[in-house]
Amino acid sequence: MQTFQVTDAFTMVHTITLVKGKNAEVWDKDNKRYIDFVGGIGVLNFGHCHPTITQAIHAQVDKLIHYAYNAAGHLPYQELMPKLCQLIPIQAPLSGMLTNSGAEATENALKVVRLKTGKAGVIAFDGGFHGRTLAAVNLNGKVAPYKKGLGALETHVYHIPFPSPCNDTSTEMAKAALARLFAVETDVDSIGAFIVEPVQGEGGFLPLDKDFAQYLRQFCDEHGIVLIMDEIQSGFGRTGKPFAFEHLGVEPDLILLGKSIAGGLPLGAVIGKSSLMDGLNKGSLGGTYSGNPVACAAALAVVDIMNDPQTWQQAEAYERTLTSTYERWQQQSLTPWLGAMTGIGAMRGITLKHAKLGLDAACMTQVLQKAREQGLLLMPSGNYRHIIRLLPPLTIEPEVLTEGLAIMEQVLASIDI
Ligand SMILES: Cc1ncc(COP(=O)(O)O)c(C=O)c1O
Repeated sequence: MQTFQVTDAFTMVHTITLVKGKNAEVWDKDNKRYIDFVGGIGVLNFGHCHPTITQAIHAQVDKLIHYAYNAAGHLPYQELMPKLCQLIPIQAPLSGMLTNSGAEATENALKVVRLKTGKAGVIAFDGGFHGRTLAAVNLNGKVAPYKKGLGALETHVYHIPFPSPCNDTSTEMAKAALARLFAVETDVDSIGAFIVEPVQGEGGFLPLDKDFAQYLRQFCDEHGIVLIMDEIQSGFGRTGKPFAFEHLGVEPDLILLGKSIAGGLPLGAVIGKSSLMDGLNKGSLGGTYSGNPVACAAALAVVDIMNDPQTWQQAEAYERTLTSTYERWQQQSLTPWLGAMTGIGAMRGITLKHAKLGLDAACMTQVLQKAREQGLLLMPSGNYRHIIRLLPPLTIEPEVLTEGLAIMEQVLASIDI
């Protein structure tokens, strides 16, 4: 029989069909309500259908829906770029380009590096994630599911361990891996860039070790290597600061943006030092839809929200409630499965770890299912799918947050493995 359907290649964490969302709540086609701790995987730091964003979208669709920036400029793009640059605390003149997605931002950053430095080598990190397009998957520090079955990928990409206070990798271990790399695999002069998430998202909400970040900055300066920070998941307030690199005391050369940048419309960006982003071959960057006027209008509204002090009070309140609840769970020994809290600021994960090795995945499946049945959407991360990454809107109403955490508490206490 002939069928017409969505490919089954997606891992759908929750097999539900959503029709409506408001701040931290969504409703499915049967009108069942869920508290949303997934936020469309980090896209909704300011909630579903934030009124400032929806108003900006409504106003823009009546004026101009599309123009390709390679053909002619448009106001929303031209207004957005300087405002985005102003948000990013890098002490240098900045220029940028807009993309349709995070992966496209990754791809373009690689192009900028090649065009500017003439070097194709890139060093990425174990457990890192930078997208699903063909050059981006190469950078991901995890084979299954991202690279499995794709065959030979572009070379010139090397991975080293990701040092974090939340994993077993120290700065010394990462430095040793780097020294080995340059002794055994490749010449340091072949490397154009390091690409790193200041807080790994898919990797389990692991913040980069601060000492290593500073070492990396110095290393890049000494060897003329571009430091790219991928803030696609960690940016736009997720960690309680506008960008996660602000926790590290170093500035990147290029920054990748996406996800929450436009409140749910598809948009990404590569922003960086003008010395890198300007003077490239004409026509080397672009795309038909990238920097779509409606997405830009939504992003302009996001910039306004980022500039509102209330946003940061809400993020702080969220972080306080979450961390104090987790500490209480620990004191009460809620479940033997409760492991460490990962992350930094308002970007937090909760590890499910038990002495019975190998059961973490089964435990996670049970947690996700039980939570969904009780009206809470959760999302896993980490190399072993053993860390619940919490991505509710930072604007979540305190009572909805408390309700969601109470469901989580009940679910964790009732794990039955
Ligand atoms: C850190 C990071 N980089 C890049 C990407 C890819 O973004 P997109 O899915 O918009 O292509 C993601 C998506 O999860 C991400 O978390």
